[in-house]
Amino acid sequence: MAKKDVIKVGLLGLGTVGYGVFKTLKLQENDMMAKLGSKIEIKRILVLKVADFADKVEDPSILTENADDILCDPEIDLVVELIGGTNAAYTFQKKALENGKHIVTANKDLVATKGYELIALAAANGLDYNYEAAVAGGIPVIRPLKMCLAGNHVTEILGIVNGTTNFILSKMANEGMGYEEALKIASDLGYAEANPTSDVEGLDAGRKVAIMGTLAFHRDIRFDDVYKEGITKLTEKDFASAKELGYTIKLIGMDRLVDDEVEVCVYPMLIPADHMLAKVDDAFNAVFIHGDAVDDIMLYGRGAGEMPTASAVTGDIFEVVRNINNGVTGKWDNSTYNNYRIRTIDEVCNKFFVRMTVKDTVGVLATVVGTLAEDQISIASIIQNLNDDNSAEIILTTEKVNEKSFRNSLDKLKASDVVEEISSVIRVY
Ligand code: HSE
Repeated sequence: MAKKDVIKVGLLGLGTVGYGVFKTLKLQENDMMAKLGSKIEIKRILVLKVADFADKVEDPSILTENADDILCDPEIDLVVELIGGTNAAYTFQKKALENGKHIVTANKDLVATKGYELIALAAANGLDYNYEAAVAGGIPVIRPLKMCLAGNHVTEILGIVNGTTNFILSKMANEGMGYEEALKIASDLGYAEANPTSDVEGLDAGRKVAIMGTLAFHRDIRFDDVYKEGITKLTEKDFASAKELGYTIKLIGMDRLVDDEVEVCVYPMLIPADHMLAKVDDAFNAVFIHGDAVDDIMLYGRGAGEMPTASAVTGDIFEVVRNINNGVTGKWDNSTYNNYRIRTIDEVCNKFFVRMTVKDTVGVLATVVGTLAEDQISIASIIQNLNDDNSAEIILTTEKVNEKSFRNSLDKLKASDVVEEISSVIRVY
């Protein structure tokens, strides 16, 4: 395709990110021709109710409530989908691709569930499909995995990829707050949504784990493949014990390749206090990647918010414009040429931290250690604190153990006469 002086864009959605993109393109207006060889014009914007958005744009006539004004407009080359969700967004993206329009999106829900189909459709039609903002907002993660790290076999990704939960966990770790108190502050500051389930139960992070794992391992990984546990059961005591042992607790999105099998999980983990991820606080995100050539790298920054997310979306738009002008669109397909088996959580191996209350009687420690030893579980550290009520608290960490064997052993301990309660079981990095 020949170079175009003006490339016309249709924006689906003018919410926080949509408006950020609108502003970012304005800020870039004077540089575009020199940077890209074209001007970018937002021709139409889809909104739910035009009247609600009329004061946000200089020319309200570009607003529409009819998606076909964008999806069926032959002048529009590129559709930027920022409405989110998997229903209307899927229908709109598919129709846009069928009508020959490139896609840029921040929609992690859709990419993690139907990305394989939409990306294949884009490639088959010679179209670009860019989704840098779908993982960790303003932090470049997708392009580094696809391009900069392509000369590696990536074997591990550890991501703090949810800002809301990282904010809550930072408050619990650094200010001794309980979960509910920290969640309330996150809600008051606008980090946590009215229904925080997707964030606090690890679903949002799970979508990002699926997307990153697909790129890292060249294996089709979807949201349902990812094992997810959230942060709602963590207590002040867990943080105090973790600190005593030299750790902090983070919600980790993990993609791991072990013996040609894939482990894709989200769960809270004790992270050594001197690990770089332990220093990622507040609503910040970070993605720690290990590749066989590059060794370890960490990408850090703002994983959400109007302008950081708009930064990633705008970079994606610019890439499409350059590709159009160079006649090289549609060069990326799914690249999922590996068929590694995805392990169930029962098959994953981890180190563990356990906090339990036991009777304060002779031989308790021997029973606990003996039960674990029967199942070949090696203890890395153990602390016992006596309580005032003839009970004691035992805090132990283990060496790496198969998850299923470990749970069986914990069930035996729960059923024993000496264990009153197993209050926390947290994985250790
Ligand atoms: N709710 C997400 C977060 C926003 O807290 O990180 C970006 O996906």
